[in-house]
Amino acid sequence: MKKLILPILAALCMIGLTACGTAESAGSSAAEHSAAQTETVQETDSLAEAGQSESVDTEQPEAAPESVPQTNADAQTAEVSAAGEAPADTGNAAVVVYFSATGTTKGVAERIAAVTGADIFEIVPAEPYTDADLDWHDNNSRTTIEMNDPNVRPAIADDTVRLEDYATVYLGYPIWWGDAPRIMSTFAEAHDFSGKTVIPFCTSGSSPIGQSGNHLAALAGSGCWLAGGRLEAGISESEIQDWISSMN
Ligand SMILES: Cc1cc2nc3c(=O)[nH]c(=O)nc-3n(C[C@H](O)[C@H](O)[C@H](O)COP(=O)(O)O)c2cc1C
Repeated sequence: MKKLILPILAALCMIGLTACGTAESAGSSAAEHSAAQTETVQETDSLAEAGQSESVDTEQPEAAPESVPQTNADAQTAEVSAAGEAPADTGNAAVVVYFSATGTTKGVAERIAAVTGADIFEIVPAEPYTDADLDWHDNNSRTTIEMNDPNVRPAIADDTVRLEDYATVYLGYPIWWGDAPRIMSTFAEAHDFSGKTVIPFCTSGSSPIGQSGNHLAALAGSGCWLAGGRLEAGISESEIQDWISSMN
C-alpha cells in the first residue's frame, strides 16, 4: 500500500504546485489558507484567551474530542503553503518526525511509522520539559512563557535527521495553547523542506490542528505542506491508513 500512497502524495504535491509552487511566499499562502479555514481555534498570540477557551478544557474527559472524520476533513483542504521546488530524487522514502512531551504523540507517530514503513525521528529538547514546565495553570511555567512569546526557539538536543533522504515528512506534535510547541518552530526553521511533502499531525485534549501547520509552513518557507490533521491518541493502524488514503 505504501508503494501506492506515497507516489500519489508526491503527485498531489506536484499538482499542488499551483498552490505550492507559485512565487507566493509560504507566509502569504498560509494566510490565504487561513482565511479559507472555518475552524474556530484562537490564535495563541493572546495566551490568556487561549487558556480560557482551549487549554483548560483540553484535559477534561467529557470534552468531546475531535475525531478522525474531522481529521480527514482537515486533510482534504490540501496544500497550505510552500516554495514548490521539484521533488528531490528521494523515491518514496518517508520519515515521521515528532515531538512528544508526555508520550501521546509518540504513540501515534510510532503507529504512522508502522503503517507506512517510514523511518522515525524524535525531536528531543536539549532541556527536557518537567511536569512543572508543562503546567499551563501556572502563568510563569516554562511552557506558558514559551507559548506567550512567538520568538522563543527552544534548542533541540541532537537534531541529526537528514530530511534530504526523504520525499515525505510526517511532522507530529502536541497542541499547546492552540498551536505547535515552540520547539517545532526551531525544527521548521532549521531544515530545508524543498521538494518534500510535509504532513503535519497533532494530538491534543480536544483542539484541532488549527493554524499550527500553517504557522510552521510559514517559518519553514519551503516544502509542500498539506493540511494534515489531529489524530486521536488511541487511533488504530487501520484508521491511520484511512487518514493517509483520505489525502489522495
Ligand atoms: C502546556 C500545554 C498546553 C496545552 N494546550 C492545549 C490546547 O490548547 N488544546 C488542547 O486540546 N490540548 C492542549 N494540551 C494538551 C495536549 O495537547 C495533549 O495532552 C497532547 O496529546 C499531549 O501530547 P504529548 O503526550 O505527545 O506531549 C496542552 C498541554 C500542555 C502541556
